[in-house]
Amino acid sequence: MFESLKPQPADKILMLMQTFRDDPRTDKIDLGVGVYKNAEGLTPVMRAVKAAEHRLWETQTTKTYVGLLGDPAYSDAMIDLVLGDAVPRASVAAAATPGGTGAVRQAFELIRYGNPEARVFVSDPTWPNHLSILNYLKMPVVTYRYFDAETGGVNFAGMMEDIAQARPGDVILLHGCCHNPTGANLNRVEWQAVIDSMLKTGALPMVDLAYQGFGDGLEADAEATRMVAAAMPETLIAASCSKNFGIYRERTGLLMAISADASKTPLARDTLAFLNRQNYSFPPDHGARVVTTILTDPVLRADWASELEETRLSMLNLRQQLADELRQQTGSDRFAFLAQHRGMFSRLGASPEKVEQLRADNGIYMVGDSRMNIAGLNSKTVPILARAIAQAGI
Ligand code: LMR
Repeated sequence: MFESLKPQPADKILMLMQTFRDDPRTDKIDLGVGVYKNAEGLTPVMRAVKAAEHRLWETQTTKTYVGLLGDPAYSDAMIDLVLGDAVPRASVAAAATPGGTGAVRQAFELIRYGNPEARVFVSDPTWPNHLSILNYLKMPVVTYRYFDAETGGVNFAGMMEDIAQARPGDVILLHGCCHNPTGANLNRVEWQAVIDSMLKTGALPMVDLAYQGFGDGLEADAEATRMVAAAMPETLIAASCSKNFGIYRERTGLLMAISADASKTPLARDTLAFLNRQNYSFPPDHGARVVTTILTDPVLRADWASELEETRLSMLNLRQQLADELRQQTGSDRFAFLAQHRGMFSRLGASPEKVEQLRADNGIYMVGDSRMNIAGLNSKTVPILARAIAQAGI
């Protein structure tokens, strides 16, 4: 049987991660995979995570199964973090998932199960794995215009035109904050217009929220998601703790299915449990328990929030430094958008050939579509990158 398997194209982001590891150059710069790195290039365990793990080690008496939806205390803590008081708790069905990707996958499964006809509208571009999973599940995909390469901002008129084509029950996949891969985001007024469009067409919003706290702050980054959930009859949210808690390998995510009609919640909850059972049975618990410990302890929560805020500010700082340096090196303002973008990523707007040239000549690794992980920089490498961009004539 194995000989009949079809070789699959390698995931571009993960392949780049390996190529970077294999590169013997000591001055190479990794702007590839979306992992936060500090000025020393390290991805340390956050202080509150260490403390919570220590506490768990001391107090946890069993590793027996929890439940198909995970620990309810984890869902409660995360619903509070993501949604605040935007919707009544009784309208939210939630399931712990293996990371944000697990939440995305389960959301797609839920859509396919509930409405096999549904088409999923995704931004052009979007996180490549959205497309890969949708294709794998054989779900119909429609792209909507999103990134304006000229301005480095959002092609909002194009987006509105495209999502207006949704039919009732189609799904509009939105990035709650810190758009991956472009870094370009909607403002509040634009979010409201997107909501109005979905209310008009009868489309179902699915929000991927993988970077809460990396853009404008923990509360500000949740604002759009909360607006959507409060306004729409039904909303799906895939939340990740990988980045904002720095627990990438613990695979900690949450899928929320919100209905304005709370009488639908029990069936949604049972379906999420069923889908978890079909795919992996019980979701991972360790990361979820760490997150719950942090979010429910005022001291740990404050420490976590302040370390996260430092992380966010350091990325903002790097953005500004890079935009300034590029202004100097190129004598133009055409990279000013880098300082306006939010989150880990920015799409530089370089051709795949130029991206390859930067890798070959300068050991600078960015994803082929010229997505850069800003957190891969530090104050020493910013001028190096800016010089290389200017020299390459990008
Ligand atoms: C990324 O976009 O780099 C991250 O979300 C990591 C991944 O799984 O692709």
